[in-house]
Amino acid sequence: ASTGLAATPPMGWNSWNHFAGKVTDADVRAAADALVASGMRDAGYVYVNIDDTWEGERDAQGVIHTNSKFPDMKALADYVHSKGLKLGIYSSPGPKTCAGYEGSYGHEAQDAKSYADWGIDYLKYDKCSFGDVIRKEAGNDHAKAFAMEKAAYKKMHDALAATGRPIVFSLCQYGDNDVWEWGASVGGNLWRTTGDINDSYQRMAEIGFGQLVQARYAGPGHWNDPDMLEIGNGGMTEEEYRQHMTLWVMLAAPLLAGNDLSKMSKETLALLTNKDVIAVDQDAAGIQGVRAWAQGPLEVWRKPLSGGAMAVALFNRSAKPQSITFDLKTVFLDENAKLRNLWTGENVVISGDKYVTTIPGHGAVLLKGTPAKIPEVACSSGPWNEHL
Ligand code: DGJ
Repeated sequence: ASTGLAATPPMGWNSWNHFAGKVTDADVRAAADALVASGMRDAGYVYVNIDDTWEGERDAQGVIHTNSKFPDMKALADYVHSKGLKLGIYSSPGPKTCAGYEGSYGHEAQDAKSYADWGIDYLKYDKCSFGDVIRKEAGNDHAKAFAMEKAAYKKMHDALAATGRPIVFSLCQYGDNDVWEWGASVGGNLWRTTGDINDSYQRMAEIGFGQLVQARYAGPGHWNDPDMLEIGNGGMTEEEYRQHMTLWVMLAAPLLAGNDLSKMSKETLALLTNKDVIAVDQDAAGIQGVRAWAQGPLEVWRKPLSGGAMAVALFNRSAKPQSITFDLKTVFLDENAKLRNLWTGENVVISGDKYVTTIPGHGAVLLKGTPAKIPEVACSSGPWNEHL
């Protein structure tokens, strides 16, 4: 909501992908503890975000209360803050949330005030039943429906701003009405570009490789959100999760871990906390990466970084290992470039302006190349960058 927020894509944890409707106060405290103990907080993961199902009833004055799973939201916020972390919460512009709990419809200012009083730092605002409100009031009038949608998000943005507390505003309406074109104008710091992710390679890849149209709309303070991470939830292989993380950092996506942090393997932690990999996501220029080359199951993506460097991802979308001959010229590098493999930390040896390597099935290689001769047009990311 306030300016200066989300200068780089938000990082943290969200309860939904693992705990869904079962999340409790104890789970959130355990996540906060684990963020600190694992080193994730120090790697940048600072938002602890409670998703749907914390909501209770409204009292006679219309003030929202928590349900029995969350006995005291202010105390929880104090606990999270005491760990050097920030607390996020969830609501809907509709009368009901997606899980059927109380939404903010007609109570926006009141709810924003409750959040600020509790010490909330981030709000995910999920369309859910507001779709029914729109259908009922606008029918087939698309212009009216669109205006209602924008107004609902702006209303909550303004209510949050009026509290005076800096609260990151996350729009969740599944990419409806090409939200990337107007999300920033209603105060969104990030907006979901798609329906829900799930813990499968197919869905992760469908989302991750399908983020080109909206790329040009990302930048400091306003990000495309291809949904939360599934790394560590068990449905993909380690190489598939590496591809997931590599895609998300190339997309300058919010990095919201979605696993049970208190039971995390070493491999999961390593995928989430590689500093050089995270630095690609958090680069100050805030340029979203795009596809530069594709052939069969192989893709090369580029993401210009501040300081004249280029992040380059080599992807293999097939289940079998594949050899790739990566031509550095496709990403504004040449035979003078120094290339480093960010996942392994090793310098890469090139021959001329080619790099030949093998990518594991469903895997990814993430490189940083310097110096890049990046034409101005490639610095504002966009579909015109695609050589396809
Ligand atoms: C739909 C959203 O897209 C999910 O991320 C999650 O917030 C659920 N709603 C919660 O009901």
